[in-house]
Amino acid sequence: MPLSPGVSSVDAGRTTQRRASATSQRAIALWLLVCCALLYAMIVVGGVTRLTHSGLSIVEWQPIVGAVPPLSEAQWQETFAKYQRTPEYQKVNQGMSLAAFKGIFWWEYSHRLLGRVIGIAFLLPFLYFPADESIEQCRFSDVRTPDDCDVRRFPLAVHRAE
Ligand code: HEM
Repeated sequence: MPLSPGVSSVDAGRTTQRRASATSQRAIALWLLVCCALLYAMIVVGGVTRLTHSGLSIVEWQPIVGAVPPLSEAQWQETFAKYQRTPEYQKVNQGMSLAAFKGIFWWEYSHRLLGRVIGIAFLLPFLYFPADESIEQCRFSDVRTPDDCDVRRFPLAVHRAE
């Protein structure tokens, strides 16, 4: 596209760069807002897990396969049997029914699942944005005025001393 009179290709390049940067900043802001919302939900679900005494209901720590809950009655029986062998059941929840166990299980499960979701929701964009050069790169030596590398506009700017 021909440039308007008085607009050099350098200026046009800068304008395109600024537009791309503004789009990236919006994407980064959205990502961070989503992470904050998920974190808030995590604190609420963690609080409910605590208040309903749902902790220690899942007796295994399997970060990947543990994302799949019991799906059949046989799997529920097996999961409940493992819980019945724990001191938590024997000393605190002796005689608990399977239905009640499912109640506490789902709270702890939701808390753990949300933890996995937060991990992925934070990590993937965290790796993608720098690779995509969306995160403004500022070198200390480039900064002459606050506008050159405004940490208020670019809170995630990577400051690299040369
Ligand atoms: C960013 C915030 C949080 C993260 C990343 C987080 C992460 C986790 C994880 C990974 C577990 C599973 C640990 C296990 O079962 O061995 C867990 C369990 C638990 N969390 Fe959180 N949590 C958070 C906030 C909270 C809050 C705010 C509360 C309560 C006020 C809470 C209460 C609990 C309880 C009661 C358990 C069950 C403990 C157990 O069964 O051993 N969490 N949390």
